[in-house]
Amino acid sequence: MNDTTVIRWGIVGTGRIARRFAQSLAHVGGTQLAAVWSRRPEPAAAFAQEFGGAACASFAALLDSGIDAVYIATMQDSHADYAIAALEAGRHVLCEKPATVNAAQLERVVATARRTQRLFMEAMKPPFYPLYRQLRAHLSADPIGVPGLVRAGCAVPGVPDDHPSLSFEQAGGALLDIGIYEMFLAVDWLGAPLDVQTLGRVGTTGVDLFASLNSQHERGISQLFCGLDLYGKGDALIAAPGGHVTIHENWWNPTRATIRYADGRVVELDAPFEGGGLNYETAHFCELIRAGETESPVMTHAVSLQMIAMADAARAALGVRFAAD
Ligand SMILES: NC(=O)c1ccc[n+]([C@@H]2O[C@H](COP(=O)([O-])OP(=O)(O)OC[C@H]3O[C@@H](n4cnc5c(N)ncnc54)[C@H](OP(=O)(O)O)[C@@H]3O)[C@@H](O)[C@H]2O)c1
Repeated sequence: MNDTTVIRWGIVGTGRIARRFAQSLAHVGGTQLAAVWSRRPEPAAAFAQEFGGAACASFAALLDSGIDAVYIATMQDSHADYAIAALEAGRHVLCEKPATVNAAQLERVVATARRTQRLFMEAMKPPFYPLYRQLRAHLSADPIGVPGLVRAGCAVPGVPDDHPSLSFEQAGGALLDIGIYEMFLAVDWLGAPLDVQTLGRVGTTGVDLFASLNSQHERGISQLFCGLDLYGKGDALIAAPGGHVTIHENWWNPTRATIRYADGRVVELDAPFEGGGLNYETAHFCELIRAGETESPVMTHAVSLQMIAMADAARAALGVRFAAD
């Protein structure tokens, strides 16, 4: 592939996040929404009518429709199966978070990606936003030292009973729905988790409604929370010997950060994002395809595996076991 090759996309699942992806794709040059498929034909046809592409009759037909890449936008109970099938069919895979339900599934996906030499990336959007990249660049030029604490959280109340986040069958729950973002932040700044201690509560549908994690990582400690039954605050703190960073809420769609240096200086970063926000990770993914890469240097397989290992440990502590476990 060369720098101008148009990447033809197929989307699996046509729900909430698939809509945002289709809107974001329109902001990524050199791409085309070529095909969509979901388990019910009517919503898939309506989606294709609204955003373009052919509504396929089956997942196999989608894989066989001449696409280069698949965006998996179903709930996580089906991510591993669709990812493995798409990789085996020679397609590159951008898979919604959480990449899988557990680490055992993700190890199988990663092994398939390595064997088939296809690109696989978990669609973890924060590191690709302009603000997050600006923050990384600023701290490289004017460091605060090695971070030793990451504190982050998010909780949203009033989730409707029929929302997939509350579905046990679809492997919902606060940890996999929301907590996985915080686990990314902790792993990204502090390294691999070594010990995860968890308190939380499980709701009537059998999924975790709230969890609070204190974890030891290679380079420091993270304090994270996630919930589906409280109105929590969604900012993040990264603390180091020479200063600390606040990524203002909502930190996972970051637009503003404040760096406070121990010597008294204060630096404000302000970087709004364009499009739906998923355009940045998608542009990165397309660049990797054109460059013939099979793993993102930003959202590596190792980081995804370390994040899901944290979620596995936290779910085990709360006694939440899904069919895939
Ligand atoms: N990156 C982000 O900002 C972000 C935000 C929200 C969600 N997400 C992630 O995106 C994924 C989807 O969440 P969502 O809120 O978009 O859910 P959603 O609105 O329920 O959409 C899921 C879509 O997948 C279809 N689907 C579900 N299971 C399927 C299966 N086994 N085979 C084929 N199609 C299937 C659903 O069809 P039906 O209509 O028939 O159920 C629906 O079209 C989740 O993993 C979630 O964690 C990411």
